[in-house]
Amino acid sequence: MATKEIYDVGEAPPIGEVPAKMHANLIRESRFGPPNEAFQIEQVDVPTPGPGQVLVYVMAAGTNYNNVWAALGAPVNVIGARQRQGAEEDFHIGGSDASGVVYAVGDAVTNVQVGDHVVLSCGMWDENAEDVQGGRDPMMSSTNKVWGYEENWGSFAQFALVDHYQCFPKPERLTWEAAAAYMLVGATAWRMLTGWEPNVVHEGDPVLIWGGAGGLGSMAIQITRELGGIPIAVVSDESKYEFCLQLGAKGVINRKDFDHWGRLPNVDDAEAFGAWTQGARAFGRAFWDVLGERKSPTIVFDHPGEATVPTSIFLVENGGMVVICAGTSGYNADVDLRYLWMRQKRLQGSHFANVEQCATLNEMVAQGRIDPALSRVFRFDEVGASHQLMYENQHPPGNMAILVGAPEAGLTDFPS
Ligand SMILES: NC(=O)c1ccc[n+]([C@@H]2O[C@H](COP(=O)([O-])OP(=O)(O)OC[C@H]3O[C@@H](n4cnc5c(N)ncnc54)[C@H](OP(=O)(O)O)[C@@H]3O)[C@@H](O)[C@H]2O)c1
Repeated sequence: MATKEIYDVGEAPPIGEVPAKMHANLIRESRFGPPNEAFQIEQVDVPTPGPGQVLVYVMAAGTNYNNVWAALGAPVNVIGARQRQGAEEDFHIGGSDASGVVYAVGDAVTNVQVGDHVVLSCGMWDENAEDVQGGRDPMMSSTNKVWGYEENWGSFAQFALVDHYQCFPKPERLTWEAAAAYMLVGATAWRMLTGWEPNVVHEGDPVLIWGGAGGLGSMAIQITRELGGIPIAVVSDESKYEFCLQLGAKGVINRKDFDHWGRLPNVDDAEAFGAWTQGARAFGRAFWDVLGERKSPTIVFDHPGEATVPTSIFLVENGGMVVICAGTSGYNADVDLRYLWMRQKRLQGSHFANVEQCATLNEMVAQGRIDPALSRVFRFDEVGASHQLMYENQHPPGNMAILVGAPEAGLTDFPS
């Protein structure tokens, strides 16, 4: 137990001394709505790690889209959903990315010890579940949850509670804020581009990446580059071109130059369907122009969903894969089944990443092969503001992070 009951944000307790209370920038049901209203700093009890769990003093946290959804309380009320499963807390501490220092470990934790500098991943599951014990990829387990979204005690607080396998070594050369920025989007993109054999990125493969300047997109461009593929990015504004090119995109397409987005018209409506097809073909020609040859993408990296899936399916090469991890623009994505079956295309769902995939991505970042693409750093009281920018699609290219325990930006070590 620490000598003080609660410490100011940025004032670290001695390593291993855990105070009774902490500051958390949290969400309550009564405040569900735009992120800048939903998040508020309150004081709550510090959780105690149970068997297999780790308590981490958060140095920095990452901003991700999932806590835009948590703030809105839609499509899922994460607080209500947890309470229905027996959770007592009537608040949500979000934050699915973090860097920090281990302050306490529960029984049977052997992979980390007090004082270790770690980066946290957000994939959680019950290690004793029958499907996990049976050797199933734990991301496919019925017990799988996303920490800091479906699970409580995320990184928008002085202390975070995780399972031991969520801890990975922090790349030493990175600042705390850069180390908090990449794991969620990076490992998700890694699984999407390498996890679905035989549709993985091979040398010379063209890959179409929606939202190239976003969190996922910034990682997908770099991963495709590292695997020898040819990343081609889509954005909504020319101001984002240079960012994508710097990360390794061969070229960039502006989606605002086209207007056929959204749900497919009825295939029996020849006029409307013809107009849609013309739009999709024009977009395909823009892809060829950037690529420099008439070749379709072997993989399309999708997450906008409803707005983009019809075009993704139309464009991807025969036997190619549209891999998707979200439906930011809507969930009613239409597929013209004729293209799917006749051209034997694959529409593959993908969700975060398993331990091995997180470890590989983390190692690539540690080696300097993947940059966290950190664009902006916020103070602890700006958790809502950073998510509000994301909600309004006004955030800067790349990934955003929030200083929690780190008293200032630019630090790589724990201040003693
Ligand atoms: N399942 C998972 O494991 C997982 C993991 C990470 C993220 N996600 C989800 O994936 C989505 C994207 O996350 P992110 O971190 O990359 O967000 P982000 O940083 O906001 O990037 C998304 C990008 O998508 C583009 N976009 C927005 N609306 C679009 C539309 N209607 N059509 C085409 N492009 C559009 C925007 O770029 P332009 O405006 O420049 O085109 C935006 O920058 C979110 O819904 C998030 O919750 C899921």
